[in-house]
Amino acid sequence: NYKEKVDSVLSLMTLDEKIGQMVQYSAGWDLTGPASSKSAQDKLEKMKKGLVGSVLNVVSVEEVRKVQELVMENSRLKIPMLFAYDVIHGLKTIFPIPLAESASWDLELIEKSASIAAKEAAASGLNWTFAPMIDVSRDARWGRIMEGGGEDPYLNSVIGVARIKGFQGTDLSNPNTIAACAKHFAGYGFAESGRDYNTVTVGEFELHNSILPPFKAAADAGVATFMNSFNDVDGIPATGHKILQRKILKDDWNWKGVVVSDWGSIGEMRAHGYAKDKKHAAEIAANAGSDIDMESYAYEAYLKKLVSENSVALEVIDDAVKRILNLKFQLGLFDDPYRYCSEDREKNNIYTKEHLKIAREAAKKSIVLLKNEDNILPVSKNIKSIAVIGSLADDKNSPLGNWRGKGKYNSAVSLLEGIKEKVSVSTKVRYAKGIDLTIPTIKPGYNQFLYPLKFNTTDKSKIAEAVEVAKKSELVILALGEDAYQTGEGRSQVNIGFAGLQNELLEAVYEVNKNIVLVLMSGRPMDISRANEILPGILATWHLGSQAGNGIADVLFGDYNPSGKLPVSFPRNVGQEPLYYNQKNTGRPYSGKHVTFSGFRDSRKDALFPFGFGLSYTDFSYTNLTLTKSTMSKEDEVILSVDIQNTGKVDGEEVVQLYIRDFVASIVRPVKELKGFKKIFLKPGETKKVSFAINKEVLHFYTINRKWEVESGDFQLFVGGNSSTKLKTKITVL
Ligand code: IFM
Repeated sequence: NYKEKVDSVLSLMTLDEKIGQMVQYSAGWDLTGPASSKSAQDKLEKMKKGLVGSVLNVVSVEEVRKVQELVMENSRLKIPMLFAYDVIHGLKTIFPIPLAESASWDLELIEKSASIAAKEAAASGLNWTFAPMIDVSRDARWGRIMEGGGEDPYLNSVIGVARIKGFQGTDLSNPNTIAACAKHFAGYGFAESGRDYNTVTVGEFELHNSILPPFKAAADAGVATFMNSFNDVDGIPATGHKILQRKILKDDWNWKGVVVSDWGSIGEMRAHGYAKDKKHAAEIAANAGSDIDMESYAYEAYLKKLVSENSVALEVIDDAVKRILNLKFQLGLFDDPYRYCSEDREKNNIYTKEHLKIAREAAKKSIVLLKNEDNILPVSKNIKSIAVIGSLADDKNSPLGNWRGKGKYNSAVSLLEGIKEKVSVSTKVRYAKGIDLTIPTIKPGYNQFLYPLKFNTTDKSKIAEAVEVAKKSELVILALGEDAYQTGEGRSQVNIGFAGLQNELLEAVYEVNKNIVLVLMSGRPMDISRANEILPGILATWHLGSQAGNGIADVLFGDYNPSGKLPVSFPRNVGQEPLYYNQKNTGRPYSGKHVTFSGFRDSRKDALFPFGFGLSYTDFSYTNLTLTKSTMSKEDEVILSVDIQNTGKVDGEEVVQLYIRDFVASIVRPVKELKGFKKIFLKPGETKKVSFAINKEVLHFYTINRKWEVESGDFQLFVGGNSSTKLKTKITVL
């Protein structure tokens, strides 16, 4: 507890210095070099005067040191700066994109990869990451779906907490850990029609039951910071949302950390039509509880005046500054402003063999086996010939995915490399590109935001070559899907099927060889209905990071038995979106009883592959579902257990999932809700008993009384290997 220290620093500060702590700049303006423009020069001068509290995008010990020195050597109070960066799935060692890694349902692994990301970041001068993103995301069109834990509140909560623990460790002042940031508060994943930044219209109960739980879990886990979101929630921009930030987060949850605005989101309240000018925006945001202004330049320009006019109380400023100073104390920056600047760690702690080993582990564990007809997989390493087809197969950049920190362009192990490394010398591996997925319109290089995506829809010249290669080979590994930059911020799409000429390539190859395994690479669930109809094997491999090709080859050739489970539903058709398993029943859920019912006339309404789904090279049976009691009081706890047996021939891991349904409640409840899971390892023939405690934590929800309560009545309890499980029992709460 740094209260006394914080108060004593605060007591020395002028109002200008206090407001300075609430200002955050990005590095895009020569913060570290000789200022090349008047505005860059102004920024440097402000930093020297201690009028900027944090920066983002200054990465490397040398650069961080320079910026910190500016402040430490010139400012009056020498309050060290915070250095933030989007370390989303690794800094240089790149792990699977968060959506992919969530498919591992392996919390230990997820914590480990976040801890490595933190270690590399902290070795590069950084002390704050803008991660994890814990927005529940239900729409495959939304480009940002790649950055989160998928469509379920519980899964997002536990994965979010694992990532926070990984980033922050148990002691923020440890120079191998960094502060985490729970984002985006709140509702960003519910953007209407999946269009980025779009409006969010949810009622109070949906907000509390579906959107806020991961944030509450993050706050309880001690996440150091929150970031608010760009969207409005029922007409109020999140950045200016007093109920969300002040009432719920800071008062009701009693959370003591720092809220940073998203980039420019304070100023954007003008475009929303919520603030008449920047000054008004600053007033709304500060009063609503946004402690730091990232790149709107609204606080530095207007807060002082707003205080003098009594539009923003001095207590509001003091509260924000205390939170920021407290974080700086927690990080140990007052003891040593250069704590995160070690040339030695920077040289030795980044992109190490050990980190790459974990990246491979994460890659293989994130893969989901969607289809395996006639056991086409695993493939023998002694197979005579394989055709590897598709531009993504030879792509060393796309597997890094979007938001890849300082991941080096073209540094991933490609699928083709992974396969070649794995097969025996006698195997003939033939590669054909088939098509160019996109047309590069700028010089290849890394610029995640400006990379203009243009699909090739005309040049079919290479398809014939792919057909020839397929004809000559025993098996085809066909890599289709998405480029790294088809998902991420501002990367929403109306088409979630195969873009460009990929469908043509698929059909042409299928004409000549039916023995095809689709290796799907993507940052979102895609519409793969046609491929599923005709192909015997499908692996969802997402964008798996630095070791992608090796991880995929481990699974293709059976060195690792796939254990991933979908954290998102795969649709049959984009028209089903938003699609999520935990939907409500409606009054007319089925056909038969009614002529018209809640579905589609031209498609089934359920997912092609449901949430929680994933096959293995072995089989599992579920038997002996038992409950210690079939009735319980609201405060009681009963134990649900089930026996899982590996009935196949190889070792395997299974994610045993618990779902509930609250039949009748004061607020309509979803048809199923994930409430727990356990990942277990079983040898062939082995049986393990898995138990879940059924208690208040499992049964409660945000009720009509605006409280988290358990209501009396019947609950169905489901257990199984995916969300469409039918294995169930019932409990009555008295
Ligand atoms: O952290 C991100 C955020 O998620 C989206 N806008 C930009 C921020 C900083 O890069």
